[in-house]
Amino acid sequence: MYEKQLLLIPGPTMIPPRVLRAMSVPPMGHRSQKFSQVVKEVSENLKKVFQTKNDVYILTASGTGAMEAAVTNFVNPGDKVLVLVNGKFGDRFAKINKRYGVEVIRKDFELGKPADPKIVKEILLEDKGQEIKAVFVQQNETSTGILNNIKAIKEAMADHPALLIVDSISGMAVANFPVDEWGADVVVAGSQKAFMLPPGLAFISVSEKAWKVNETCKNYNFYFDLQAARKNLTKDTTPFTPATALILGLKESLNIILNEGLENIYKKQEKFKEMVREAVKALCLELLVKDEKSASPAITAIKVPDNIQWKDLNNILLNDFNVQIAGGQDDLKGKIFRIGHIGYVQDMDLLTAVAALEMALYKLGFIKELGIGVKACQQVILKHKEEA
Ligand SMILES: Cc1ncc(COP(=O)(O)O)c(C=O)c1O
Repeated sequence: MYEKQLLLIPGPTMIPPRVLRAMSVPPMGHRSQKFSQVVKEVSENLKKVFQTKNDVYILTASGTGAMEAAVTNFVNPGDKVLVLVNGKFGDRFAKINKRYGVEVIRKDFELGKPADPKIVKEILLEDKGQEIKAVFVQQNETSTGILNNIKAIKEAMADHPALLIVDSISGMAVANFPVDEWGADVVVAGSQKAFMLPPGLAFISVSEKAWKVNETCKNYNFYFDLQAARKNLTKDTTPFTPATALILGLKESLNIILNEGLENIYKKQEKFKEMVREAVKALCLELLVKDEKSASPAITAIKVPDNIQWKDLNNILLNDFNVQIAGGQDDLKGKIFRIGHIGYVQDMDLLTAVAALEMALYKLGFIKELGIGVKACQQVILKHKEEA
């Protein structure tokens, strides 16, 4: 294995040296005043990234931990919820709810298509007794590269009292998501995506409306009890020993994110999406998500051509060029591959990945000429330079 690998999977992502350095320090007492200052600072900065006035709690867990907290703190066994599914992670929300005895109304959308707000509206209008307690959805469905329209979904919910619970694990700090303005009640994110950290931290914001629901909820969960997180955050601390090194890294990565500016980051992510999509089209590969607006700015899913095996493509990318991209998951295993363009990524990283992809496709006999995808990518870079 070479030292330097181009890691372009949709998380964990590459980590800036500044963040790595911030984490490479002797252990710090998690109840110390010094560490509380860090918790205070990062909590305030997380609120800016989530664009919320509400607290954002830091959990020492992978993203799924925060998804679980988003279920156990706001719904009870026997409650009804609507889960919108357009990939593996929507399916996970359905599974977590079921595990806790919640009745799931599951609405599946075709893989590669966004959740349709019209259908949400229809289901909620039919719920005359207002039995549905929450709507669960991914902002960015990483398994298929779909960006769901959270604003439209909230509008479709109209005055139905259900909570809107959003998994923004791979969407936060990638695509605009003004949590308060769009009225999302519970939103979760994870450290190993746009936050440019190793896995191990998850973040969760809770609206006032969701806190009211929480009061009537029998908290099943001890570790993920958000009331404990809330109480402790008033003292700038966490209920249990947190991943202190990761939180020190988070302080640095939030500074990087806020210095770059959210608007600039969203624009950059749109450019990355365009670079990859244009290269894919030029190479006569097929995109899983056809609609540009619904295509994720964090990850691009590409169909594996009929005469190629994903395993062979991946072996060449890894062994010859030390570029790591991701395969498909569950039903899409072997059928798609995914290029992550999230976190600590620059134009030249993606250009290199496209060049490697081209060489791999050339070796496999899918293309006869080199440079077509690279050129398409370069044109997008130059177009954006001119517009800047
Ligand atoms: C949209 C989405 N939700 C949930 C998860 C699960 O997060 P974790 O693997 O950190 O538990 C992921 C991870 O890739 C994700 O992309």
